[in-house]
Order: sequence, then C-alpha cells, then structure tokens
Amino acid sequence: MKFIVKGGLEKTALTGTIRVPGDKSISHRSIMFGSLAEGTSNITGFLNGEDSLNTLRCFQAMGVNIDGPKDGKVTIQGVGMHGLTAPAHALEVGNSGTSMRLLAGLLAGQKFDVELSGDASLSKRPMKRVTDPLAEMGAKVQTAEGGKPPLKITGNQTLNGFNYQMPMASAQVKSCCLLAGMYAQGKTCVTEPAITRDHTERMLKAFGCEVEVNDDTACVAGPAKLIAADIDVPADISSAAFFMVGASIADDSDIVLEHVGINPTRTGVINILKLMGADITTFNQIEVGGEPVADIRIKSAKLKGIQIPEGLVPLAIDEFPAIFVAAACAEGQTIITGAEELRVKESDRIQVMADGLQALGVNARPTDDGMIIQGGEIGSGTVHSHDDHRIAMAFAMASLCATGDIHIEDCDNVNTSFPGFAELAASCGLAIQVIDE
Ligand code: S3P
Repeated sequence: MKFIVKGGLEKTALTGTIRVPGDKSISHRSIMFGSLAEGTSNITGFLNGEDSLNTLRCFQAMGVNIDGPKDGKVTIQGVGMHGLTAPAHALEVGNSGTSMRLLAGLLAGQKFDVELSGDASLSKRPMKRVTDPLAEMGAKVQTAEGGKPPLKITGNQTLNGFNYQMPMASAQVKSCCLLAGMYAQGKTCVTEPAITRDHTERMLKAFGCEVEVNDDTACVAGPAKLIAADIDVPADISSAAFFMVGASIADDSDIVLEHVGINPTRTGVINILKLMGADITTFNQIEVGGEPVADIRIKSAKLKGIQIPEGLVPLAIDEFPAIFVAAACAEGQTIITGAEELRVKESDRIQVMADGLQALGVNARPTDDGMIIQGGEIGSGTVHSHDDHRIAMAFAMASLCATGDIHIEDCDNVNTSFPGFAELAASCGLAIQVIDE
C-alpha cells in the first residue's frame, strides 16, 4: 500500500471531532492479564490493529477462550496463572515488539516450551535486553544469532525474584521482568534510568495484583495471582499525536480528539509541542481503569524550533516521527538528543526520518542519538517508510505544510496500530489517496 498526500494546498485544515483507535500498549496488556486472570474480563475500546490482534491470537493458541473484537469489545475467559496450554506451533507476533518482549517474561514462567517469532522487521530488533535479565532470574531463553528473534523458551524452570537495574529506559523490558516476577519465588524489583510508561503497573493493580512503586522502582512479589477486571481502553495518544502535529502545522485547523489516554508517562508529545508553541488544551478529564483520559483540542499555531529536554524523550518515544515533522515546519532549529532508542524501533527512526525529510528538501542532520532539524518549508518528493507505521503516518501529516505532493511507499504496516488512518484523516480534511499495490 502506498499513500499520496497532496501538498501545496492553500486551504487544507484539519477540523472536526474524532476518536482515534484504542491504545496499543493497553490493548496488549488487557489480553495478557485478562487471559491469566481468574474469571471473565470484558474489554472495550480494544485496538483492532495487527499488533494487538497478534497478542490475542497467541493467547487463543494457548487455549484461552477469547471472543471478539467486535466494535472494540473483547470477552476473555481467564484461565488463571497456570491455565495456559502449550501451543501447537511457534507463536507468531508479526511486527509487534511489545508482544514478543512481554510474552517472553510471561512465558518464561510456564511449564511448557514455546517459540516466539516475528516478521522481517521484528527479526532485526534486539532481544538480549529481555533475555539477559530473564537469565538472571533462572529462565532459559535462547535467541538467534546476535540476540535477535526467534526466542526459544524452555519451560519448567524455577524463577527467582531479583533486583534489576535496567540499562535503558524501556517499558517493555520493565514489563517483561515484572511479568516473569509474577511467576518467581520472592520479590522482583526493576529500577529504570528514566521514567517510562507505567501501564503494566497500573493494570496489574486493576487486576488485583499488588505492585509497589517508589519513584524509579517497581516491584511485584511472586507467586502472584490476577482476578478478572473490566478494562476501558482509551484512544491511543500515540495515534492522536499525528493529528496534534497535523492540526498545529495546517493553517485554520481546529480539531478535537476524544477520550485520549493522558497518562503522564505518555504525554511528552503534548509538552514538547507546547514548548514549540502549539495551542493544545485538554478538558473533560476522567479516570478509567486507573488511567487518566481526556478530550484534547488542537488549533493551528506558529511553531518554533527548540532544544527538546532529554527528560521528555522517554515520555514521547513513539511520537518522534511526528515531532520531527513538526520541527521541519517550525521556525528555527530543533535539536533532539538522548533518543538513541529510536534506532531500534520498527525501523531506525533517526535514519529513516532523516532520509525522508532530506528527500523532501529539509535540512535534517541525523546524529547518534537524535537529529538536528532546520525548520522552514517542506518540499515534495517520494519517501520510504521502511514498513514502519509511524513513519508513514508522520509523512502523511507533513503534506499539510509541504509545497507539493508527497508519495509515501510501504504503508501496509499502518494497520499494526491505526487501522482506518487514511479514511479518518481524510474525513478531517487531509488530502490523502491510498494506492493498493
Ligand atoms: C511499549 C513500550 C515502548 C514503545 C512501544 C510500546 C509498551 O517500547 O516504543 O511502542 O507497550 O510497553 P520500549 O519500552 O522498548 O521503549
């Protein structure tokens, strides 16, 4: 699939009131915890995207009765912490790093052997970051050469609780350790070098599992047990981010994004855009399942380049493709540092975004841990998303301040996190055409 987005339009504004699809991180966890809980869990607002569906299919393959998603509703008949059964085949998680890394922790504590494999992009991503701490706990997990997938997990191991000082700020690594910790003897504590998304900690509590959190450290005591819970999945702030950037850079825009998760470990994008001068307000704030949710209004604004505070980087880690586009449209220079994790996402998001911006005539210089972008005008041309959903959607929004059309190649994976993106964006005013190749 390819997108063609029209640039150079005088009057393209993003307007309306929309709800973007459900939060990917929360959707994954709702399936995992609902499956391991005792009783029936009802999920609403579930993301009907390939990544979260892969997690759902993995648990069905391990004998869990899961109905849906139908209109975002999923019903899970939990089997309890020890009720999963050995799948007939390797578990295939597609493009989803969250599925692979969280499942690695959870499956390390099972009685059966299991293999986890992924698509070409995931097969290049680092897994030693989870297999190393799991080995310290006593788990047996083998990787392919260079610490890459597939992962072969040998069951029936005794896991021991431990204290782990994470070398990188990663919610996936933290979650992997905590999930293995639920099957371990004693307490597992994970300390992170910077605060990362805390959906695992919040949702475990909603499922009745005690999680102790002190500043940068989260602990669970094993063996743990989960009790069924109903989860209302908010709209994904990472998907909302494309519209925040689009509406900021397109003149005359005024858009409302409904029921968006605004967990403070995820709101870096709002804070960064506000520092750049964006006009963003949140209202109607409520709390659902331990997660804060609000409606967000964005109006167009004159953005200016900034030095992005490094403390905000892990809180906006998935939003950088969109933020880079905002920086390319802003007046002056934007400097991003401390973001080396972007190099090991669904693509090398520093290189791929820099290549794409340069192809559109933007002065964007990649560095080891970020980028220096000279803002101003975006031109026209062809960019490659390298099968990375967020790269494709970021460049679609770039058209709103581009002088001509942008052709975006390799857009199939938009369906991993944002099914219906093109249709929804078009309904708000984006001049986007989808070409099936
Ligand atoms: C996620 C954590 C982040 C993020 C990913 C989802 C999660 O990865 O990039 O899209 O659901 O825990 P890292 O924890 O590796 O930074």
